[in-house]
Parts: sequence; C-alpha cells; structure tokens
Amino acid sequence: MFNTMTITKTAGALIGSLLVLLLVSWAASSIYHVGGPEHHAEGEAPAQAYTIAVEEAAPAGGAPAEQIDFGALMASADAAKGEKVFGKCKTCHSVEGKDGTGPHLNGVVGRAVASVAGFNYDDAMKAHAGEAPTWTPEALQEFLTNPKGVVPGTKMAFAGLPKPQDRADLIAFLQQHGG
Ligand code: HEC
Repeated sequence: MFNTMTITKTAGALIGSLLVLLLVSWAASSIYHVGGPEHHAEGEAPAQAYTIAVEEAAPAGGAPAEQIDFGALMASADAAKGEKVFGKCKTCHSVEGKDGTGPHLNGVVGRAVASVAGFNYDDAMKAHAGEAPTWTPEALQEFLTNPKGVVPGTKMAFAGLPKPQDRADLIAFLQQHGG
C-alpha cells in the first residue's frame, strides 16, 4: 500500500527543508536572543517539528495536508513573478482567449469550473465542477498544488507547483488577466 521509495524521498526532502528552517530559526534566535522562558521552548521545538512533519507527509499523495495562510501570501503576491511561473503552463494554456491542449485561462479566477464553451473537458473535471463549482483563488491554489490529487483522472498532465509563493504569484498574474 505504501510506496517506501516515495515516503523515503518525501521524508528526505522534508528533513532537508526542516534542517534549513531549524538553522534559520537557530541563527535568528541567537541574534535576537532576549533570554527568558523562550529558551526552554526552543529546546523542544526540533523533536516536535520532526514528528508533525513526517506524519503529515504520509498522506501527501492525496489531498494536500499542508497548512498555509494563503490569504497572507496572496496579499503579498507578485504578478510579475507569476508571469514567469505561467511559463510552465504556456505549452497548454493561453491568457489570450485561445484554447490549446487546455482551456484559456484569462478570466479563470472566479470562473465556473469546466465552463469554457467548446473545450472538451474530461469527465473528471466535469465531476469536479459538481463538488467545487468555482475557481476561487483558494480552489486554484489547491488544484495547482497537486492537480491529479485534487481532480483524480484529470487529463491535465502537470505535476503541480510545490511552492505556495509560486502559486500565489501565479494567481495574482491570472487575476490581472480577466475575462
Ligand atoms: C500538459 C498540458 C498542461 C499544462 C502544462 C498545464 N495544464 Fe492546466 N489543463 C490542461 C488540460 C488538458 C486541462 C483540462 C483538464 C480536464 O478536462 O480534466 C487543464 C485544466 C486547467 C484548469 C481548469 C480550467 C477550467 O476551465 O475549469 C486550470 C485552472 C488549469 N488547467 C491551470 C493550469 C495552470 C495554472 C498551469 C501551470 C501552472 C497548468 N494548468 C498547466 C493542460 C495543462
């Protein structure tokens, strides 16, 4: 049932980024050290961080389990950077109203799911429209984290954008391309 390679890789990647985080927070706390009870909590943080992260990594093949404050990310999103991220979508999508392998994405923010007339969506995407009818920024960021996890069976052959900031920047770019 579990693919050990995947779990090992995921855990490896997580531990790698945790180490960076730990180093950063450790460096920050030695710079801003003010003494007091904080020191105590710091000592416990590493052990706890490992436990939580690895447990959450296990179901990562399915729905995204990460918790991010996407509203805050959107508030500071950079549409110019999002245009670069959109480079990954361009082989299949345009923001100029033309449909290619995928439907045009101008106006997609706030648009009904699977609603471009004349585009041949697959059943998976049509079914998804029944569950989550609108491409809100939140719905888009979830889909783009793991397209095949959120819409199992979608014909969109794209692995996903793992970085929350990339997703926010991209959605800000798409917001600029209305209707
Ligand atoms: C290899 C081609 C391909 C790439 C790359 C790709 N997509 Fe798609 N995309 C599709 C296809 C095909 C569909 C239609 C999916 C279906 O019917 O299940 C789709 C559907 C979508 C939808 C749903 C649109 C609607 O009208 O309901 C969104 C949103 C979307 N893609 C965004 C993106 C973004 C953003 C990127 C880049 C980060 C991207 N896609 C990369 C092919 C692609």
